[in-house]
Amino acid sequence: MKPFLIQHLLGESQARFPVWLMRQAGRYLPSYRKIREKHSFWEMASRPEVAAEVTLLPLAELPVDALILFSDILTMPFGLGLPIEMRESVGPVNLKPLATEADFGVFRDYDPKRHTAFVGEALDRIRAAAPKEIAVLGFAGAPWTVASYLVEDDRMLGEWIQRDPRSLITALEPLADATSRYLHDQVEHGADAVQLFDTWLSEMPRWFFREHYLPLLNRMFDSMPRVPHIFFCKQAHHLIPDFSSMRADILSVDSLLSLPEWEARTEAHFPLQGNFDPRLLFADIGTVRLATRKLVAEARSLSEPAILNLGHGILPGTPVENVRAFVEEARQAWV
Ligand code: CP3
Repeated sequence: MKPFLIQHLLGESQARFPVWLMRQAGRYLPSYRKIREKHSFWEMASRPEVAAEVTLLPLAELPVDALILFSDILTMPFGLGLPIEMRESVGPVNLKPLATEADFGVFRDYDPKRHTAFVGEALDRIRAAAPKEIAVLGFAGAPWTVASYLVEDDRMLGEWIQRDPRSLITALEPLADATSRYLHDQVEHGADAVQLFDTWLSEMPRWFFREHYLPLLNRMFDSMPRVPHIFFCKQAHHLIPDFSSMRADILSVDSLLSLPEWEARTEAHFPLQGNFDPRLLFADIGTVRLATRKLVAEARSLSEPAILNLGHGILPGTPVENVRAFVEEARQAWV
């Protein structure tokens, strides 16, 4: 039996929408915080039994249709041996920033079996433990967003784009190829679909996206395993006209436009995933329920299947009962 989320995407099951949440296994969950007290972030991500346990935590609280691997967009470079520190409420910091084309060549050596075998092992455990109707999602960071954490600071990539755009793309190629190998390995170990996170795409000038980065992304999409691939970005509305030639299967969209507005602007080119505002989960529970019903109604007006989710990850401190209310309302049958 295929997981419900996959059936829905294939148009085989349309009684309700599938729902899951970005960062559903994170600090808003007391059970997560309890495990986190005992381990560093990288310990959690690189010990398969812990990563699997944490990935499965949301199922005990929420009737979600998918589990996303507990990991990070910097796990692949970390596994390869880059000195990446996970700093409390800051995020990942690379202690030896990459600066040149030659520096980015480090990704040519990346071998999933050698450097991130723990990810495959975690996925094996998750697939074995999760009910068959629940989709298991793999993920990776997209080259631009991962690169933005590997270089010295925010200015660096912006300057590189202007100075020598071709050299920047040449630098990103080995990273893109390594990311494809990483995702292939995740699918080999049971991922039913994969999501590519390009959080910082909002910072990319349109001309660079169109002329240089989109071809790199499309080359990745073409080389990716034959499971649905979801592309996530946020606040990158300047690029919407160019998304029509992007070969992702599903577009995960932010909360700044409604789903029907997204569909109109992307010319119904993709099934959409999204796009409840994570900040709204701090409202009173009645408001959360009402807003979720509105989201379901909007999703029902679309011409392609939709996956209900947030517009960005759940924020720490979000009340778990509000998250549950969102998932319950999102699962309402279409009667
Ligand atoms: O969605 C999930 O539940 C799966 C796990 C997941 C994590 N990070 C775990 C994590 C996923 C999909 C990510 C992706 C990720 N990581 C992105 C792309 C999505 C997005 O949110 O824009 C980015 C940009 C990162 C980089 C990152 N990792 C930052 C900026 C931070 C610090 C901020 C924060 O939220 O804490 C992290 C750390 C991180 N990654 C945590 C978790 C659960 C918190 C670690 C902790 O327990 O302290």
